[in-house]
Amino acid sequence: MQIKMVGVLGCGLMGSGIAQVCAAAGYTTIVRELDETFLNKGLGRVKKFLDDGVAKGKVTAEARDTTLANLSGTTSIAALKDCDLIIEAIIENLEEKRTTYAALEHVVGAHTIFLSNTSSLCITELAAATKRPDRFGGLHFFNPVPLMKLVEVIRALTTSDETYQAVFAFAGSLGKEPITAPDRPGFIVNRLLVPYLLDAIRAYENGLGTIEDIDKGMKLGCGYPMGPFTLLDFVGLDTTYYIANIMFEEFREPAYAPPPLLKRMVLAGRMGRKSGRGFYTYETK
Ligand code: CAA
Repeated sequence: MQIKMVGVLGCGLMGSGIAQVCAAAGYTTIVRELDETFLNKGLGRVKKFLDDGVAKGKVTAEARDTTLANLSGTTSIAALKDCDLIIEAIIENLEEKRTTYAALEHVVGAHTIFLSNTSSLCITELAAATKRPDRFGGLHFFNPVPLMKLVEVIRALTTSDETYQAVFAFAGSLGKEPITAPDRPGFIVNRLLVPYLLDAIRAYENGLGTIEDIDKGMKLGCGYPMGPFTLLDFVGLDTTYYIANIMFEEFREPAYAPPPLLKRMVLAGRMGRKSGRGFYTYETK
């Protein structure tokens, strides 16, 4: 099938990055947010990233202008009516997603593929909430979306071969490296990353070393771009806590159980970079 027009639901950190890479790959892209304030903030993030890219010599002015010309924002679901493929990147809440898919079903064509960028919910359960379980799948991007090369393609139990192949090819057309991941909590990357991050917190609580030394150890000793605490702050402590709980509920293995310190930091509002404080303190703009 030919994909020309792409819709993105949600213009937060992930949605704006996803919309940007779709527009940069030449797709006519429409991103939908709930209100103008969130929409303008998300579109502003895209513009800033592209402007910074031009200033760094990583993006040409022409590529920036083409990307921005391919991208438009809306607050209306109906504006997505001509989209061939829609990527949902809204809040991680099953009911919100169900309501949004139901509204979309009324406006889009029968051929339109729905994809979710969820990092924690069951793709088969989301697919079952739509009238197109065969044209539904998971497409999981990584933060920061424009820089991270990987995308996980997840098949629901009901995803057709045709949809899977079209989605895999679409992910490649974005300049990403797709891998096929199972519809299980954590898919491939978070299945391995989350226990590592949780273990770093447990090790710190048990006196293994300072936050700075553990980070330095993993960064310089293993060549990771960030140590575990810098990465926890980057991903968001609330997000990590949420994913860990879902993984623990499914697998019932201690490796996925959120450590007490993580829970308390979330309860205290220390979510990481986005709240100005996590394991480190950040200047809020
Ligand atoms: N436009 C174009 N290119 C840009 C750019 C821009 N605005 N800003 C930066 N870049 C380029 C840089 O030029 C640089 O390119 P080269 O390597 O060719 O020099 C590259 O992007 C890296 O940028 P920086 O040098 O500015 O920054 P950095 O080297 O510190 O890297 C980072 C930043 C990519 C975030 C890196 O620290 C990293 O990879 N961190 C780990 C991130 C990670 O693990 N993400 C996954 C989180 S888990 C997740 O998302 C899933 C989930 O479900 C929770």
